[in-house]
Amino acid sequence: MKAIILAGGSGTRLYPVTQVVNKHLLPIYNKPMIYYPLSLVMLLGIKSVLFIVNPSDLSSFQKLFGDGSKLGMDIEYKIQEKPNGLAEGLIIAEDFIGNDNICYILGDNIFFGHDLVKVINEAKIEVEKKGGAYIFGYSVKDPERFGIIEFDDEGNVLSIEEKPQNPKSNYAIVGLYFYDNKAIKIAKNVQPSGRGELEITSVNEEYLKNNNLKVKLLGRGFAWFDAGTHDSFLEAGEFVATIERKTGFMVGCIEEIAYRNGWINEEQLLKLAYPLRKTDYGKYLMELVKDQIVGGNIAF
Ligand code: DAU
Repeated sequence: MKAIILAGGSGTRLYPVTQVVNKHLLPIYNKPMIYYPLSLVMLLGIKSVLFIVNPSDLSSFQKLFGDGSKLGMDIEYKIQEKPNGLAEGLIIAEDFIGNDNICYILGDNIFFGHDLVKVINEAKIEVEKKGGAYIFGYSVKDPERFGIIEFDDEGNVLSIEEKPQNPKSNYAIVGLYFYDNKAIKIAKNVQPSGRGELEITSVNEEYLKNNNLKVKLLGRGFAWFDAGTHDSFLEAGEFVATIERKTGFMVGCIEEIAYRNGWINEEQLLKLAYPLRKTDYGKYLMELVKDQIVGGNIAF
C-alpha cells in the first residue's frame, strides 16, 4: 500500500495566518502540522508517500523531507495547481499509485488514542485483502463542518453527505481513507459539487452505492482534530502539549518512529538530532539513542 498526503488547498479558514505560509507547515505545539499525518502513515509501516502540494510550497516541503531517505522512506511530490477538491488528489497521484492500494490522508488531520494504530491497521489489512473502501466516523458537536454519515438502527450506512445544512447524524467522516485501486477511476468520474470541488464524499458515495464501503466508528477514547480553523488549530496544539508534558513521550515525532521502525539506525538518528540539539525536540531524539526511553507507546 502507498500513502498520499494532501497538503495543498488555500487555507482560507486560517487567514490571515495562512496568507503567505502554508497551513501544513505551521506548528502544532512543537512540530509542523504535516508531521502528524506523516507519522500515522509511518506507524502503519507505509514507506512510500506522495505529498500533494501547491506550486508555491513545493520547495518548502522538499526542504523539509527531501526524498525521504533521511527517514528511510521514499517520499515524492506532485503539484495540485488549484484547490479543486480532495478527490482530485487521487487523479494527480495516478502514476505514483500504479497498481497499489491507497492510504489517503488529509494534511490537517491529527489522530491520537490508545491502540489507534491497531484499529487503523485493521482497515489497511481489510482493503489489502478484500478491496473496497474503508473510512472512519467520529462523533462531533459541529457536524455542518464535515462529511457526515447516516446510519440505520442496525448500524448500516444509509447515506453520506458533505457539509449538510441539516446533518442526519453527528458522525463526521475523518480525513483518513483506505481505498483499493479502483478509487482512481472513480475519482476521474466525479463531477464538481455545488461549491465547485471534486469531493472525496462523492468517491465514498460511489463505494457505498456498490456496497463496498466499510465504516468504523472511532470511539470516545480517541482524539481527532481537523486543525483547519483557528480554534481547532489551537485545541490540537494544546492537546499535544498536554500529552507530551504528562507522558514524556512525543506525539507525531517522525524521527523517533523511523528509528523504532528500524528504518534508520542510531547514527542516522543522531545526524537528524544534531541540528536540533539546543531544543527539547533534539534532546529527546538524543535520549532515544541513549536508550533512556524504553518501550511504551511510541507516538500514539
Ligand atoms: O477533516 C475531515 C473533513 O475533511 C471531512 O469530514 C470532509 O468530508 C472532507 O471534505 C474534508 O473537509 P474540509 O472542509 O475539512 O476540507 P479542507 O478543504 O479543509 O481540506 C482538507 C485538507 O486537504 C487540507 O489539509 C487542505 C487539503 N486540500 C484541500 C483541497 C480542497 C488539498 O490539498 N487540495 C484541495 O483541493
